[in-house]
Amino acid sequence: MSNREFDLVVFGATGFTGRLVAEYIASQKPKKWAIAGRNKEKLEALGLGVPIIVVDAMHPGGCAEVARRTKVVCTTVGPYTKYGAALVAACADVGTHYCDLTGEVNFMRATIDAHHERAKETGAHIVHTCGFDSIPSDLGTWATQQEFKARFGRYADKVSAFFGETSGGMSGGTAASGFAIADAMSDPAVRRIMRNPHALDPDPDGPHPKGDTRLVGWDPTLKMFFVPFFMAATNAPVVRRGHALAGFPWGSEFVYREVMSTPGNARGAIMAATITGGLAALAAAMKRPALRAQLQKRAPKPGEGPSQEKREKGHWKVRFVAEGGGDKLIYVVADPHGDPGYQSTSKMLGESALCLAYDALTSPGGVQTPSVAMDGKLLDRLRRAGLIFEPAEKQPASSSSAARAAG
Ligand SMILES: NC(=O)c1ccc[n+]([C@@H]2O[C@H](COP(=O)([O-])OP(=O)(O)OC[C@H]3O[C@@H](n4cnc5c(N)ncnc54)[C@H](OP(=O)(O)O)[C@@H]3O)[C@@H](O)[C@H]2O)c1
Repeated sequence: MSNREFDLVVFGATGFTGRLVAEYIASQKPKKWAIAGRNKEKLEALGLGVPIIVVDAMHPGGCAEVARRTKVVCTTVGPYTKYGAALVAACADVGTHYCDLTGEVNFMRATIDAHHERAKETGAHIVHTCGFDSIPSDLGTWATQQEFKARFGRYADKVSAFFGETSGGMSGGTAASGFAIADAMSDPAVRRIMRNPHALDPDPDGPHPKGDTRLVGWDPTLKMFFVPFFMAATNAPVVRRGHALAGFPWGSEFVYREVMSTPGNARGAIMAATITGGLAALAAAMKRPALRAQLQKRAPKPGEGPSQEKREKGHWKVRFVAEGGGDKLIYVVADPHGDPGYQSTSKMLGESALCLAYDALTSPGGVQTPSVAMDGKLLDRLRRAGLIFEPAEKQPASSSSAARAAG
């Protein structure tokens, strides 16, 4: 691959998230990179001063041409079930590394079935979910397990991720992907995939330990309430796929569970009830055509998203509780300087693309998860980019109490 014209191409650079990713990559000054999209004028208007490739995601020949010219394609052209199939097929076929921001489990299952074996042959790392879904969950669990092993000489039997204090907004593409998933759920085959907590495992129908919870509860370790987290439907199957691809190093009975936490006081109890009620109301509204049309009308449109101020003031934090052999570890993954979906996601996807392009990866090709493809190399990059991956006791007391107050 050393003779490719570009080290990496950002496809979808004219979109809300794609522009942020392209700007992040530009700030890291890679040697040979380009931007791609379907509209030449919009690409030129970005003023990035790098080569431009005009290509439509629905055109397999054009996608194959992009894949042949570069070592890595980083794509934000979504919803991926609608636009993503030709590009991922082309990359797997010619051994081009690929990373994206999909959270669409049905799309990932389809690429695993169609391209995992071919990508293994060509050496292509096909890495979905390189944004807020699912890097905090996937790489966070992996990092928690490395720390647990270093301390206690063994891996944890159970890791629970508590998504806590968060501030951010939503873009048009994210809203479109949410509606695309809801539409796809009318197909019973898709519904079966989406409801299977092991949908992305090499063997999705095998015997598996339980982990997901739909309950509201109290966590005695963190002393916080927890409620179901809607993103667990994507993140948890990704974590489980990563564990399966790695050969089940944490044991065949390993349990991963992902929930949302609220503070352990009266306000937290009210928040827990409100979130649970809100999610139930949203699910019901999506099934009623008139209410759903209203939601769609009010959702952000393609190209729209949270303001720069909102992105810069945004933040997020996940606490991992790992347990095994009578030992316990609390590990924190967070970004205090960026909203989850856009500022922080553009760092996560940008660093994933740079990692695939420039780091000496030891993993084999295939449809992988971020932790399987890039492990500690991506972790180092994200730490350098300002994300926190560290045991809870290293967190300054003042910052965690400030964050609790914010949450
Ligand atoms: N995982 C995460 O944490 C996370 C975070 C943010 C976003 N996302 C996902 O990222 C995706 C993009 O979101 P967004 O808000 O940035 O969307 P957006 O603003 O609507 O951008 C979509 C991009 O796709 C391009 N595009 C659409 N159809 C195309 C085609 N046929 N050929 C070539 N390019 C095409 C658009 O080009 P034009 O400019 O020419 O229309 C635009 O560049 C969504 O799937 C969203 O769910 C995920």
